[in-house]
Amino acid sequence: MNSIFHRTSIRTYVDQAVEPEKITQILKAAMAAPSAGNQQPWEFYVVTDKATIEKLSRTSPYAGCAAAAPVIIVPCCRKEARFPENVIMDLSAASENILLEVDALGLGAVWLGIAPLEERMEAVSQVLSIPETLIPFCLIPIGYPQQVKPQQDRYDESRVHFI
Ligand SMILES: Cc1cc2nc3c(=O)[nH]c(=O)nc-3n(C[C@H](O)[C@H](O)[C@H](O)COP(=O)(O)O)c2cc1C
Repeated sequence: MNSIFHRTSIRTYVDQAVEPEKITQILKAAMAAPSAGNQQPWEFYVVTDKATIEKLSRTSPYAGCAAAAPVIIVPCCRKEARFPENVIMDLSAASENILLEVDALGLGAVWLGIAPLEERMEAVSQVLSIPETLIPFCLIPIGYPQQVKPQQDRYDESRVHFI
């Protein structure tokens, strides 16, 4: 199975914990991402505490689905980086790797936007007591999927320009 052509955003989860070895595998996938100059500006919070998960689900108006997840990974970005203009792309690549590995492991997840919206970044930083040196990038709730969602075929030849 190719997860690129199978992954969908999963927002409902069954009441079952995610095995620690799967979490480690997902974090390995995140850190296997490319980054500008190989700067790897990321750090990851792994949240399984129910009360904290509930608080995180209220840090954005569009993060409510996170409340039911058994685990949330919060990729964060170091403010000190060699190529600061590229850190958003680096964190995006790591986050997509998380979504793909999640799918490959039979789990489901969704990317919930936090950065660059100051209000959401501040709210997540407060909930997790994230130090000043880090910026929370997004929330990725993960769990065993409650729904089976076939992926849309979004290939659109009109967006492609062969020269
Ligand atoms: C940068 C970014 C921010 C997103 N933020 C949210 C969000 O706040 N809440 C949400 O439910 N989904 C969010 N999503 C998921 C998108 O809604 C989803 O990827 C899109 O609808 C396509 O569906 P698919 O992932 O199933 O292909 C976000 C995705 C990206 C890439």
